[in-house]
Amino acid sequence: MAIDENRFLADLHTLREFGASGVGKGVTRPAYSQADIAARRWLAMRMQEAGLQPQFDPVGNLFGLAQGSSLLMGSHSDSQPEGGWLDGALGVIAALEVARATDRPISVVSFQDEEGRFGVTTGSAIWSGGLNLSQADSLTDHAGVTLGAARAPMQDLAQGFVDPGQFTGFIEMHIEQGPSLDESGDLIGVVTDIVGIRDMVITFEGQQNHAGTTPMHLRRDAFQALSSFNSLINDRFRNVVTPQTVWTIGHVGLHPNASSIVPGRARFSMQWRDGDAARLIRMEDIIRTTAQEVADQLDLNLRFGSMLGLEPVAMDQGLQRALVQGAEHVAPGHWRRMPSGALHDATNVSRLMPVALLFAPSINGISHDFAEDTAEEDLVVGLRVLERAVSSLLAP
Ligand code: GLV
Ligand code: MN
Ligand code: MN
Repeated sequence: MAIDENRFLADLHTLREFGASGVGKGVTRPAYSQADIAARRWLAMRMQEAGLQPQFDPVGNLFGLAQGSSLLMGSHSDSQPEGGWLDGALGVIAALEVARATDRPISVVSFQDEEGRFGVTTGSAIWSGGLNLSQADSLTDHAGVTLGAARAPMQDLAQGFVDPGQFTGFIEMHIEQGPSLDESGDLIGVVTDIVGIRDMVITFEGQQNHAGTTPMHLRRDAFQALSSFNSLINDRFRNVVTPQTVWTIGHVGLHPNASSIVPGRARFSMQWRDGDAARLIRMEDIIRTTAQEVADQLDLNLRFGSMLGLEPVAMDQGLQRALVQGAEHVAPGHWRRMPSGALHDATNVSRLMPVALLFAPSINGISHDFAEDTAEEDLVVGLRVLERAVSSLLAP
């Protein structure tokens, strides 16, 4: 199998040009944006040139299909609103490079909306049967656009959903997006498990009023509710969480968001992640009870949005072994087994077939930021490990 490092790196840089943004190598390529659709059209062309049959499904997942039964590899090509050039893109281009370097049966995929403009790993959740398409169509982004409306411009490309029965397994390569490999100096992470996640929108509704004339004791201030909720959960989680548990309020909308108005509404995202499904449930109880207590105390209305989530999953032992052998061959003594704290499409695909996940280091552990980066020689090490693992798995 003759992989071409220069072709691989050149394609990664070309993909980055779609939505290139910010300082350094950043990209802004959210799902269904013009840059995302243009990038997917370019990827479809590269798949065709590699001898794969491109197929878009109704939600914009793009497959490059080998004939007959094949091993599926890839990741996603949408980005966060401020994202890096490698998150998702690396796995898609590495899969493409391995597929076009061999005559063995490898199909390539770029899933849609992994970054959750509309939810959590939306495209692969729908494809794998974890999320029903008509329910998904009514999911909204933070600007109130529905997924149904957002995917409309891709319908001229859409064919049917790809039959997962043709794939024998799925391997995803990704950057780590955390500090472990960078700190230890290892070049490769072979992932054992991916954490579970819960994500829901919470809204406090009080009374919008004049910031100069409304006495403090008469206020029904939605921001004060959010602030108090945040302090309380940080305190109450203490007896429940481990050092690996994480939680984030990453999006806040205050209405009407003006200096001289007591805010009438606070709408915010509440996300929490852990490797233990039971702990995710205990955290949910704390979140719901605390929000209700705060709402009662400040005389506010409270609304919980629908809760999206994925369970923790273990990676397939056989596919892990192939990655370990590849890592030991290409980077002897410089790889480690590790869990993934980031979500990946592999979680959804594990409903359908055995899956595995391979990590390359992230410089300073930075990701979901324009500054995300990895040394190009480290990207090539990852590509070589992937190639080696696939060669052993698909040996004639
Ligand atoms: C995926 O990007 C995640 O948020 O883990
Ligand atoms: Mn990703
Ligand atoms: Mn991401």
